[in-house]
Amino acid sequence: MKILIAGSGAGAQALAWKLLQDPAVEKVWLAPGNPATSCAPGMENIPVSSGDVEGLARAALELKADFTLITPTQTLAAGVADYFKSRGLPIIAPTREASQLEWSKGFSKKFMKKYQIPTPYSAICESQEQARKFADTLPLPVVIKADGMVHGGTGVVIAQDRQHVESTLKEFFTRNVGPVLVEEFIEGEEVSYTILFDGKNYLPLAESRDYKKLLDGDKGPNTGGMGAYSPVLSSAQHEAIITQIVEPCLAALNSEGIEYTGFLYFGVMIDKKGMPSLLEINCRLGNPEVFTILERLESPLHELFILTLQKQLDKANVRWSKFVSVALQISSEGYPFTERKGDELTLPLLSEDTHIFHSSVVSDDGKLISNGGRVIALSSIALTFSEAREKLYETAKQVHFDAMHYRTDIALNINTPSECD
Ligand code: GLY
Repeated sequence: MKILIAGSGAGAQALAWKLLQDPAVEKVWLAPGNPATSCAPGMENIPVSSGDVEGLARAALELKADFTLITPTQTLAAGVADYFKSRGLPIIAPTREASQLEWSKGFSKKFMKKYQIPTPYSAICESQEQARKFADTLPLPVVIKADGMVHGGTGVVIAQDRQHVESTLKEFFTRNVGPVLVEEFIEGEEVSYTILFDGKNYLPLAESRDYKKLLDGDKGPNTGGMGAYSPVLSSAQHEAIITQIVEPCLAALNSEGIEYTGFLYFGVMIDKKGMPSLLEINCRLGNPEVFTILERLESPLHELFILTLQKQLDKANVRWSKFVSVALQISSEGYPFTERKGDELTLPLLSEDTHIFHSSVVSDDGKLISNGGRVIALSSIALTFSEAREKLYETAKQVHFDAMHYRTDIALNINTPSECD
């Protein structure tokens, strides 16, 4: 089996790594890939940009790929699935219309409200004045989100005081990020719950918890995610998310006549009473959640994609490791506000249970050079969270580049499920 993946980041690399663990997968092409995927056995980078929809279709056809996977949201928004489908090319990705659930916060909020899916109280505001007035009706902190795609996780701000609300609204409306969503803050436990959906049947993946804040102790600005761990939920919490969030959303897609194929990510907050509330929908695997999910997947990944294309995910017999996994994002100074680049990386040799994925790395004359705010991600799997953390942070200590940053408290003091039995 031969598979094409569009993307250059750590998520695309992790999918390729997992796919190639099964001997039935002989080749994975990455468009355009990264330095790690340029030399890993079974992987090959091709010079096609991940956003070049026509180039990707041409490559899929010429290389006779069995199917194509897409990791960047921008490529979904550019209509890659529509284009592939119109040419009869197999692809695991939602259409442009369906992917609005991720790239338009306004669209997804209207969708949730129309179908009474539990979600924080909010308003979509067209002006700074309207946004301030609405924010004034909410207790602090107040959540402020840009409507459209904003790179690097800077599209969400949790404003702790009124001055911060005012400066954030001013900045968002000056930056012209489109309408702004102002939302009540719900305190609780956040969980990233992802399914694979074939349009008829869905398969829940292992859930994960993401650490969105930049600094230890959940301090500092929101980011795209600085670390994650899996598993997270009790069976009662699983059940609540399935019945109150996942299934109502899938029924709503059906009522709207929106066809959907691919990953669907529900960013859920479970409040103090155990009630889940849907904060956001993404049309892809979360990052860094993807590493914790794939670390724990024991079944051949390509089989799940084939069943998705056949609309037979109900026949999937997926196995998850009883081990736990932890992931860590290493960023460079200035992230998420600036994209520092150009630092040379030194990476360690790895043990079997720890992996490194390149988020924003390029190769220059044989050297690995940072190329953005999110530089590399690490993941590990072990019997307990403390063991997984130990492996992860031991590896992190051997990573070097100027002005690198990572949180030191990912999965700290988390009980391993077997320890709670
Ligand atoms: N970690 C959250 C996301 O990928 O959007």
